[in-house]
Amino acid sequence: MSKLIVANWKMNPNTFAKAEKLVKASAAGLRDGVKVVLCPPFVYLTGISQLLKAESYKLKISLGAQDVFWEDKGAYTGEISPAMLKNSGVKYVIVGHSERRRLGETDEMVNKKLKAALKSGLKPILCVGEGRDVRRRGIAAAKNFVKRQLRNDLAGVKRVKSKNLIVAYEPVWAISTEKGGHVDAPEDAAEMIQFIKSLLHTTYHIPHTNVLYGGSVTSASSASFLGRPEIDGVLVGGASIKTNWLSTFLYFHTQRA
Ligand code: PGA
Repeated sequence: MSKLIVANWKMNPNTFAKAEKLVKASAAGLRDGVKVVLCPPFVYLTGISQLLKAESYKLKISLGAQDVFWEDKGAYTGEISPAMLKNSGVKYVIVGHSERRRLGETDEMVNKKLKAALKSGLKPILCVGEGRDVRRRGIAAAKNFVKRQLRNDLAGVKRVKSKNLIVAYEPVWAISTEKGGHVDAPEDAAEMIQFIKSLLHTTYHIPHTNVLYGGSVTSASSASFLGRPEIDGVLVGGASIKTNWLSTFLYFHTQRA
């Protein structure tokens, strides 16, 4: 099965010209056996969608957004609806990233966004993961935290609507912008991902969900995550805004395959 590589550019870069360069550099690094999703800031979505349409790599790179609102339209200053994203060529959307949760996004809001994204036909990438304080108490505490987060975020999500769901396990303590952030051990990440998959299957009756790992994945560590059968792909932040990131990311992976 193809591995999914999602690039979360966060609030970068600061010009469209640089964004365009990054798309072209990503396209140059494409390999068989992977699917790539680029998630630029909202303001670049339309331009990048046009760029992808005009180029031969349009089928191999998909466009994702970093957030979405739950209403279709109306008086919600600064928000972006699922329909607006779809009309801008977006197929995927990150929901519940820890950097948004830190700004005050609650599980209730994440749940509404997730349901709105699924209803509209977008593929939401739901981010879950424990913070450092929880992880210090051990993997069992981390699993309980993630279980609770999934229960809240997936409340009312119907099996029939959930075939587009993707989950990303992103332990907050592993995200590169966290003070002292460091990458999880691939075997621990794989254990948590297996746990998430069995929960999705047994409790939510949502089988075959792709579950990604995210948190300080770099070209040096990507092969050890992508090489694990439990891990369906990676969500990459900081490393994905470096030139040639994708070719170096995939070099070791394809050497191993
Ligand atoms: P990072 O970010 O790869 O820079 O740790 C991942 C993320 O926040 O999605």
